Amino acid sequence: DTGRTSTLWTGCLKIIISSFLIAVLLLFTIASIRTLSLDVNVGLQLARWEKTNNISLVIDHHQREELLANFKEAIRIPTVSFSEKESNTTALREFDRLLRKAFPTVFSSSLVRHELVANYSHLFSVQGSQPDLVPYLLLAHIDVVPASESDGWEAPPFSAKEIDGFIYGRGTIDDKSPLMGILQALEYLLIKGYAPRRGFYIGLGHDEEVSGYKGAMNIVRVLKQRSVQLSFVLDEGLAVLDGVISGLEGPAALIGISEKGSATVKLSVSMLPGHSSMPPSESSIGILAAAVKRLEENPMPRLFGHGPERGTFEHLAHKFGLPMKFIMSNLWLFAPLLGRVLERKPDTNAFVRTTTAVTMFNAGVKVNIIPALAEAYVNLRIHSAQSLQEVLDLIQSTVGDQRVKIELVNGFDPLPVSSADEKSFGFQIIKKTVLDIFPTVTVAPGICIGNTDSRHFKDLTNDIYRFAPVWFKPGDAQRFHGINERISKKNYEELIEFYFSLIQNCDIQKLPEPHSSVHEL
Ligand SMILES: *[C@@H]1O[C@H](CO)[C@@H](O)[C@H](O)[C@H]1NC(C)=O
Ligand SMILES: *[C@@H]1O[C@H](CO)[C@@H](O)[C@H](O)[C@H]1NC(C)=O
Ligand SMILES: *[C@@H]1O[C@H](CO)[C@@H](O)[C@H](O)[C@H]1NC(C)=O
Ligand SMILES: [Zn+2]
Repeated sequence: DTGRTSTLWTGCLKIIISSFLIAVLLLFTIASIRTLSLDVNVGLQLARWEKTNNISLVIDHHQREELLANFKEAIRIPTVSFSEKESNTTALREFDRLLRKAFPTVFSSSLVRHELVANYSHLFSVQGSQPDLVPYLLLAHIDVVPASESDGWEAPPFSAKEIDGFIYGRGTIDDKSPLMGILQALEYLLIKGYAPRRGFYIGLGHDEEVSGYKGAMNIVRVLKQRSVQLSFVLDEGLAVLDGVISGLEGPAALIGISEKGSATVKLSVSMLPGHSSMPPSESSIGILAAAVKRLEENPMPRLFGHGPERGTFEHLAHKFGLPMKFIMSNLWLFAPLLGRVLERKPDTNAFVRTTTAVTMFNAGVKVNIIPALAEAYVNLRIHSAQSLQEVLDLIQSTVGDQRVKIELVNGFDPLPVSSADEKSFGFQIIKKTVLDIFPTVTVAPGICIGNTDSRHFKDLTNDIYRFAPVWFKPGDAQRFHGINERISKKNYEELIEFYFSLIQNCDIQKLPEPHSSVHEL
């Protein structure tokens, strides 16, 4: 009997083991096919693209001096936003005068209508010859975050000083190079007699660094009054990353197709104040500290693979060596595993989940008084696969203490995800323009973990992209809102070329048909 049972067992075990092996083999085969198919990710056939960029830009010595002088002047004007209520209005007015002086053709062309919005922001409407083509909008912002030389700048932050081919200064990346680049490109196009087929807008906000409630929001209001619908919006955001992503072969241009949401939450505990000689067993500080500790120890759920970060990995997979190529091409299988690896570092954890940062903690007034009130602020950046409400509910249950009052100070849901497929007009135009100028770069969709003015435009278009062809090498990301912000003179010229080419590329009637795709395996 025991003999028969054991044979039965062995038989079952054999079946279990072999079906397990078959399953693994099957998964492996599917995974390999996917790895191969993503290898041939060539996208639209560029050869079949209607040629509309027939005006070329050859920058001569005189123009080079002129465009650099314009750009440096823009950097030297300290258009600082100090707070939502306080900006340097003298500087904003001076900036207005600079634009009129630097781009006389833009301001005098019969094709361009210029208007001031909210006193300091600008809206340019450029008329197209074919009104049936849906217009688009290029967005940039005039204001900058504060900067002080004493923080350790190699050159004063509003000097636009040149060091080794770079121009230093607050705003050289964020956001005066795209801003001046767009207008300089339009100036040159108009001088060369260019008249667009597809109309477009240029919006320049003056308070992006403090949420854009005056500038961008009023530009949106003006466009809504005119019932404008936009094919796409292109704003600042992501860049060309060169040597920044470890293991990736060659540079990658990441085009932001969404932004994380945001929430600032106030936690507070109030109690009767008392003397420290007769303390209660728990103080307001202790209760609040425990609540904060629970939030830090219980991070928001891992959501890697459920948001636009998935597309980034899949588009870049073929530029990695094995085994990363295999893993990234098969996120349907490996996303949970990869999420666990990425969550170990703060910069990659940001792609995995809603992040929780305790940023302020205030309590107590005197050494011998039990404080009546303790309060803390928590800043969360919400993953695309979660909503603001879900995050608030999770905070409530994690804190799990009625004595801790939880209030939402401000917040918004993650932005909708813009299209990035072969039928996506804006994405394909940006991609083609990047490849026109930088043929060796890999283009992929990405997610912005910060916020931009473009979020105010979501009622005017389904497709918002956040990208400028600024080259970021290792360490450059820290210059953003940090010290020694700079751009190379060559890169600034490339920005002008990019917008010069982009505007003409937008004149195509429609995108070429995608060729039969291997993706649909
Ligand atoms: C550029 O091409 C368009 C057609 O796409 C044509 O109408 C226009 O005249 C051309 N411009 C120049 C300067 O060649
Ligand atoms: C404001 O900008 C002007 C130049 O337009 C500058 O002279 C002034 O120092 C700036 N003010 C502050 C507080 O930065
Ligand atoms: C524009 O300036 C005027 C006068 O200086 C002021 O009353 C008005 O509130 C400003 N508008 C905006 C939107 O800031
Ligand atoms: Zn910016």
